[in-house]
Amino acid sequence: VNARPAGYVPATGRVGSVAAYDRIIAATTRERRFRGDLAARLLAAAPSGGTVVDVGAGTGTFAIALARMRPDLRVLAVDGDPDALAIARAKSGAAAVDWRPGLAGGLPLEDGVADVVSMSLLLHHLDGPGKHAALAEAGRVLRPGGTLHIADWGRAGDPAMRVAFLVLQLVDGFAGTRDHARGRIPQFVRTAGFTDVVRHERLRTVFGRLELLSARWPAVA
Ligand SMILES: C[S@@+](CC[C@H](N)C(=O)[O-])C[C@H]1O[C@@H](n2cnc3c(N)ncnc32)[C@H](O)[C@@H]1O
Repeated sequence: VNARPAGYVPATGRVGSVAAYDRIIAATTRERRFRGDLAARLLAAAPSGGTVVDVGAGTGTFAIALARMRPDLRVLAVDGDPDALAIARAKSGAAAVDWRPGLAGGLPLEDGVADVVSMSLLLHHLDGPGKHAALAEAGRVLRPGGTLHIADWGRAGDPAMRVAFLVLQLVDGFAGTRDHARGRIPQFVRTAGFTDVVRHERLRTVFGRLELLSARWPAVA
């Protein structure tokens, strides 16, 4: 399940090793702020004893933090890169997370198992069809009424942020990042069938504008 398909963009894009990923994120993304805000919103939506799935979990910092903050939850973390998962599994607190090799477009999970799905810095690694497939899978594994929480790059809004994001585009490639530069992620989420798509925050960072979104998988009538 974890054979990386053609076009797969690993954690550090087309440069560097995944071993450097945590340091790069800490230095460039206002990590404490964005992870803290994403976690707070996501955990508020997670019922006691519920299941959270972190898709594209990478080196596991976010999934481990969720499990630490809410030991009552079952936290499942999926990533397509065995090297990233090996780093995650070696971290303190990793035993509280269920690590699953797998691709966002074909999650190794049953229908409706999740109360909450998170995608932190995943979508810009996927091209248009990849984003559609990943969002459709998020909907499939969510229970009716469950919620999706996204942290990812949005439209720059000013020239300085546009130049900053261009640097990230050169590193991660244009196929996945183009729709972010155009501010199209909320539309992708709606097209996948989610409702109540809300943008909560837009943070200025070294690599451009980082946005936090949430959306609801509709309850069946
Ligand atoms: C920038 S990292 C984000 C990691 C983590 N979520 C975070 O917030 O730090 C993107 C991750 O998405 C993973 N990824 C990229 N394409 C994927 C796919 N099609 N299926 C599953 N994971 C994927 C990469 O292996 C990488 O670990």
